[in-house]
Amino acid sequence: MNWEQVFATRMTRMKASEIRELLKLLEQPDIISFAGGIPDPKLFPAKAFEEAFSTILSGDKAQAALQYSVSEGYLPLRSWIAGQMAALGMPCNEDNILITSGSQQALDYLGKLLLSPGDTALVGWPTYLGALGAFNAYEPRYDQLSPDTNRTPQSYADAAAKADSEVKFAYTSADFANPTGRTLDRTARGKLLDLAETLDIPVIEDAAYQSLRYDGEAVPPILALEIGQTGDINAARTLYCGSFSKTLSPGLRVGWVCGAAPVIRRLVLMKQAADLHSSTINQMAIAEVASRMFESHVANLRDVYKSRRDYMLDALKRHMPDGVEWTRPEGGMFVWLTLPEQLDAADLLAKSLETQRVAFVPGRAFFADGSGGNTLRLSFSCADQAQIEEGITRLGRLLRE
Ligand SMILES: Cc1ncc(COP(=O)(O)O)c(C=O)c1O
Repeated sequence: MNWEQVFATRMTRMKASEIRELLKLLEQPDIISFAGGIPDPKLFPAKAFEEAFSTILSGDKAQAALQYSVSEGYLPLRSWIAGQMAALGMPCNEDNILITSGSQQALDYLGKLLLSPGDTALVGWPTYLGALGAFNAYEPRYDQLSPDTNRTPQSYADAAAKADSEVKFAYTSADFANPTGRTLDRTARGKLLDLAETLDIPVIEDAAYQSLRYDGEAVPPILALEIGQTGDINAARTLYCGSFSKTLSPGLRVGWVCGAAPVIRRLVLMKQAADLHSSTINQMAIAEVASRMFESHVANLRDVYKSRRDYMLDALKRHMPDGVEWTRPEGGMFVWLTLPEQLDAADLLAKSLETQRVAFVPGRAFFADGSGGNTLRLSFSCADQAQIEEGITRLGRLLRE
């Protein structure tokens, strides 16, 4: 069977990353890894989930928990999320929320909803690799979204028209972005909304890390700024993607989309066709644990991750040679390094794994145009102080060489 011949054209855009092979080495115990962008498993509220699952399965909710359920998602969970959204300046009700299997599924559905082959998606250069992966299946063209520059709305429309395309949405992770750790300030968020209004396109706001702010002043979510202007979520063009992965558990795969009810209704149809609904029992367990301890648990996460971020920034200051620059994130899990132009971070990773036993993610994969060869992402979420000190010392040594 010649499989390549029967695959749909979209598969040409869905390639395994070349760095995946290298990162397989991470399983070796002597590697210090700053590569994985994942929560520290030692911080999972395992006891609370043990009690929640046990309560659900031993009580009168057991049958519902193991049964099919509605595509929209478990109503008490949607109500809890609506309360949280309102507290963050985004008043809404359950009809504005669809539960998804992680926010990754929300990105896939939004790509499916909005992109025909050749349409233009505006994304950051760099942007979340998983968003590019999700959108790539719908065969878009990309243009560089840069709301903190003076690029005009017309220039985006002109570039798309020149490529016989049309701009369909702008995607951004506005708080402590993956991979850069950067946050869009209020002015840039306002400009992004102006751009979206002029082009008459939706904004996809990826809020995966929004709860993990360690210092600085919180900037209102883009959806909150827009509701501030329109007064009504059902008139909003921003589609907010939230997730419990970075706060409670990524393994339970529970996220959500919040936006104008007519869009949510279309997404519900999509979910019906794709997987009927997200895991019933997992949604119930998340609802139980979130309503019991979300705030206190996340406060503890913030304390731990903040100290790791501080260790990493401090170690970078002491060990990086001149010519290396890095971001100073106010939250999230990532610091983004820019090396002198002649260096290639993929080559550096190969050397680093061989001679220093330190892992990171080379930046190129986060750029839709394949640029960014001299950039790399470090994650501080899973490393302790000693590992950070040792790993950054070794990386500094290698760069100096
Ligand atoms: C920016 C961003 N968005 C979305 C996701 C997807 O997360 P999940 O599907 O677990 O909610 C991730 C995961 O790392 C991420 O970094």
